[in-house]
Amino acid sequence: MKLSDRVQGMQNSPIRKFNPMAAEAKAAGTKIYHLNIGQPDIVTPPVFMDAIKNFDQKVLAYAESPGLPQLQDSIIDYFKTFDMPLERKDVLITSGGSEALTLAFLSLINPGDEVIVAEPYYTNYLTFIQAADGVVKPVTTYVEDGYKFAYLDRLEAAVTEKTKMISIVNPGNPTGCILSREDMRLICDFAKKHDLWILADEVYREFAYDGREMTSFGQFEDVADRVIIIDSVSKRFSACGARIGCIVCKNEELMSSVMKIAMGRLCCPTLEMVGAAALYELDASFFTEVRAEYEHRRDVSYEALKKIPGVVCEKPGGAFYITCKMPVESTEDLLIFLLQEFRDNGETVMYAPAEGFYATEGLGKNELRIAYILKAEDMARGIELLGKGIEAYKAAGNK
Ligand SMILES: Cc1ncc(COP(=O)(O)O)c(C=O)c1O
Repeated sequence: MKLSDRVQGMQNSPIRKFNPMAAEAKAAGTKIYHLNIGQPDIVTPPVFMDAIKNFDQKVLAYAESPGLPQLQDSIIDYFKTFDMPLERKDVLITSGGSEALTLAFLSLINPGDEVIVAEPYYTNYLTFIQAADGVVKPVTTYVEDGYKFAYLDRLEAAVTEKTKMISIVNPGNPTGCILSREDMRLICDFAKKHDLWILADEVYREFAYDGREMTSFGQFEDVADRVIIIDSVSKRFSACGARIGCIVCKNEELMSSVMKIAMGRLCCPTLEMVGAAALYELDASFFTEVRAEYEHRRDVSYEALKKIPGVVCEKPGGAFYITCKMPVESTEDLLIFLLQEFRDNGETVMYAPAEGFYATEGLGKNELRIAYILKAEDMARGIELLGKGIEAYKAAGNK
């Protein structure tokens, strides 16, 4: 018996693959600061649970495949605040942004089609694209350059006759990079010139700092038929376990193709859709407080990282991640050391090694991503542990 070549060629997620090691450390009484995953400690707004508690139907029935109309409508209202008028047919509810990405790639990619992606990228893009038999075509970005990638010459160099789409996470995970309106215009014109789809993952839309204005790819009317927006309640409302997201797209052909797969998977969980509808109805003032909290966490994390000798990082403009170069040869080996050998007062720290965020062989080995999703004092302690851990790692003879 054999498994598919497709699956055998895939990686295990560098965000989660060290969890068994962490579980062992915890079972032995170690406290771990989890900076490896974008799981915020911000309280989920109570309206989510309240809406579910008030659900009064006697049968927990399947919903329609596109999603509960009340959730579609609250998403439509939410997007109105970004001057993006939508109809129900433009919104398909999915099980998280992850399913939205999977459905979009499955609907667009033929075997061997290439997707232009800035690297380092959100590591699971590789998994989703490979699952659709596509190929990641990376455009490498650099910490020293603030991870900017909207350079026409670099984008042009990535185009081949197999290029099908360009995929963008804005604000970026794992870099926190935010595209300016001019960058976005450049990408739209580039996509038009080469007749590419634009997949715009904007799940961190509200998390833009230092007064930055966020523009959505959905606001560029001349590319409305080629833009697919990925959205999710996970980060925005600190509701990762709800597993609710959506695809927003005005291209009817694409939406009816996605629907074929969506009908096959029947529907998203009804109760979570009821809760998510209440989340999307929250007043925009909710984000003011949350944004200020993340901005503070970012500042504390950045300052703490800069204190570690040899760290190279830029202050990110958005999302809640910082990717940096570390003064070690392998951040995977360092992480294994931190989980298995290093302790400071019974505590250690976990991050995501960045090699799996790159498609280009050899890149990212000495880089890591931390998520600043814990309270500021916990971030400071986690990063202090990282610094102490590096000292101990080197004192043990590692490079
Ligand atoms: C850029 C990006 N897109 C999509 C997702 C998927 O999130 P979810 O499936 O929880 O909506 C994540 C999760 O970290 C992400 O960072």
